[in-house]
This record gives sequence, C-alpha cells and structure tokens, in this order.
Amino acid sequence: AIPVPKSETLLDWYDGHARKMPWRVGPAERKAGVRPDPYRIWMSEVMLQQTTVAAVKDYFLKFTGKWPTVSDLAAAEDADVMANWAGLGYYARARNLLKCARAVAAEHGGVFPQTYAELLKLPGIGPYTAAAVASIAFDEPAVVVDGNVERVMSRIFNVQTPLPDAKPELTEWAATLTPTDRPGDYAQAVMDLGATICTPRNPACGLCPWRDNCRARLEGTPTDLPRKKPK
Ligand code: ADE
Repeated sequence: AIPVPKSETLLDWYDGHARKMPWRVGPAERKAGVRPDPYRIWMSEVMLQQTTVAAVKDYFLKFTGKWPTVSDLAAAEDADVMANWAGLGYYARARNLLKCARAVAAEHGGVFPQTYAELLKLPGIGPYTAAAVASIAFDEPAVVVDGNVERVMSRIFNVQTPLPDAKPELTEWAATLTPTDRPGDYAQAVMDLGATICTPRNPACGLCPWRDNCRARLEGTPTDLPRKKPK
C-alpha cells in the first residue's frame, strides 16, 4: 500500500520552491517571524478567484498603492473602485470587496477578524476566502480548497467521483493532510504545487515531492483527474 503524504515533505519543497508574489511573505521571512498583512492577503485572494497570478499582480499593486489599509478602501467612492477594477472581470468581486471593507471598518474598527468562523460572517467572504485568510494571515489550520487543491487531492487519493459532487470528499481528504505546524505555508504550498507541478494537462510528476504518495500516478492516470460532470 502506498503511504499517505506528509505535510513536512511538501513544506520542505516549498522552502526551496515558493513562488514570489507581491503579497506573499516567503517561508524564510515567515520563519523569522514576519506576519502577513490580512488586508493584503484578503485582497489578493479575492482578486485571484477566476484570475491568474500574472494578471492579478499589477492590479494588486495599484489597489494597495491607492488604498494601503482596509479603512482607506472602505472610504473610497464606489465608482473609483469600479473604475480601477476595469479589466479584471467578474465585477461582483469588486462590489463584494467594497462591502467587506466597509464592514471591517464599521463593525471591527478597521481590524480584520482573526478566525475562520468570524471571517466567514463578513459580507462577500465565502469558505475559500475565509480559510485562505485564516491560514495564511493567522496560521489557523483551516482547510483551504481551491481548484488547485481539488486537483492535487483527487490525484493523491485517486478520487473518481466527478466534480462538483466530489467536493465534500476532496475537502475531507484536504482536512486529513492539513498540519497544525505552519498551516499558512502549507496552504500556499499545496496551491503552488497544483499551479506549477500537478498541473491539469502535463504534470511534472518526476519533480513532485509527493510522487511516491500519489495513487493516480501509480495507476498511470493522473490527467484523468479530477473528473468533471458534463454541464
Ligand atoms: N492561488 C490563489 N491563492 C493562492 C496562493 N495564496 N498561493 C498560490 N496560489 C494561489
């Protein structure tokens, strides 16, 4: 039988292969005690939904340059925020961004809540964003599941159920692997693994730190997964 993967193995890989992003506190800095700004993590995670890292970078720098704190963003004019969002698409995200910023300013004194449960209560924050901010900004072992994580889990555990039905099952598997040590780095590591190694079409299995723990690789069929229900 093939061993269940260890978070430590992935964290060791992340220490040498973390992608650099303008909002990210890298593993070395993080170990030195640098804490990410929850405002910047939240902003980046909202922008990254349905948009690539490359496309997000300039918008992230523009937004955080113009509005350096959540209170600055909360005080912005709707039209100004919408105009600056132009080109990123999915404009509901910009409206939700403002709504959430105003709730943090008005109801939390401009300080982001620090737990998954409290973050989830904010307008426009769903399970993915709450888990990403709780883990990356506050090192809570919240279970972060985006498309990258779904792909990695489906392959490691050879989940044949098609999405979206497989979501609860993949979330359970993701929960079993989430560590209490360095949960924020771990969350970012799984997403980087999915984005750079465990890719949809041509995964670089030979370079994967979890190659000896992957049931789909053993079967020779990683690119069949995750299965998707025809729409
Ligand atoms: N995609 C969305 N959020 C990400 C993150 N924090 N790290 C890597 N890829 C991501």
